[in-house]
Amino acid sequence: MRKIGVLTSGGDAPGMNAAIRAVVRKSIYEGVEVYGVFQGYQGLVTDNIHKLELGDVGDIIQRGGTKLYSARCPEFIEPAVRQKAIENLKAKGIDSLVVIGGDGSYRGAQRLDEEGIKTIGVPGTIDNDINGTDYTIGFDTALNTIIDAVDRIRDTATSHERTFIIEVMGRDAGDLALWAGVAGGAETILIPESPSDMKEVAERIESGMSRGKKHSIIVVAEGVMSASQCADELHKYINVDTRESVLGHMQRGGKPTGQDRVLASRLGAFAVDLLLDGVHGKAVGTENNKLSATRFDKVFEESHMIDEGLYRLSRELSI
Ligand code: F6P
Repeated sequence: MRKIGVLTSGGDAPGMNAAIRAVVRKSIYEGVEVYGVFQGYQGLVTDNIHKLELGDVGDIIQRGGTKLYSARCPEFIEPAVRQKAIENLKAKGIDSLVVIGGDGSYRGAQRLDEEGIKTIGVPGTIDNDINGTDYTIGFDTALNTIIDAVDRIRDTATSHERTFIIEVMGRDAGDLALWAGVAGGAETILIPESPSDMKEVAERIESGMSRGKKHSIIVVAEGVMSASQCADELHKYINVDTRESVLGHMQRGGKPTGQDRVLASRLGAFAVDLLLDGVHGKAVGTENNKLSATRFDKVFEESHMIDEGLYRLSRELSI
């Protein structure tokens, strides 16, 4: 009988549990045994691998985090460490693995695939920075969490006529900042993909003030600078009352939205379908709402691009 493994790796994302559930249930539906690898790649190396049954993934579709735990495992770059992982899988007769995670997790999956374990990647990260899919699992939930925070901050920003600087996650990618900024009506959005000109930001705030606008919201991705650095930079050009809010890891938690649950369910099941059809070495996604699979090397070929049109729109709407 075929045996498939599943793990989550890297930063967790709401909807990962729904993806695990889909992999497990679809495998069992197809008559395949399925094994959960706990603690990501680390669990592969330490042999923290356990058979999962239908009931093991009951009551998790609505939960944030990951039932399989997640860990970063930098030593997985070492061939000898991967060899140990492969031996552990083979000892249990597992020849295929579904890796739910982001870019770093995909790199481990690609290596394993080249070394004899058939792998499929499922995009799970709040950052939405993976090529080969329009959206990653967790992005929509994190986005809505940020929007809720921005709305609340706007209330108090308006009452006190202050400029608020809200720092959101996104070490290398600005999707969360951009989308949340647009949806939250932020006056300024600072993202790693576009140079930040704080003089221009100050001028925009000033021009708003000259029209009677007394408050302003700046959404800054952590990869650009911290909220406090942003305040310091701003004060070089303008004397405004500022407050900073760092949203931090609350952005990674919480109940997944319907959108994320459905995406995770579709992609988890599709990953199993592909493995059973003999397809591997690819990452799944949805492109124009259709399921798609892209070779890992293609996924890595270019760095993730921001939606330029949305960025332009954000500037047009926040004059
Ligand atoms: O990769 C997702 C992400 O949320 C980034 O946006 C963030 O910079 C990073 O994880 C933080 O991860 P951790 O604190 O878990 O190392």
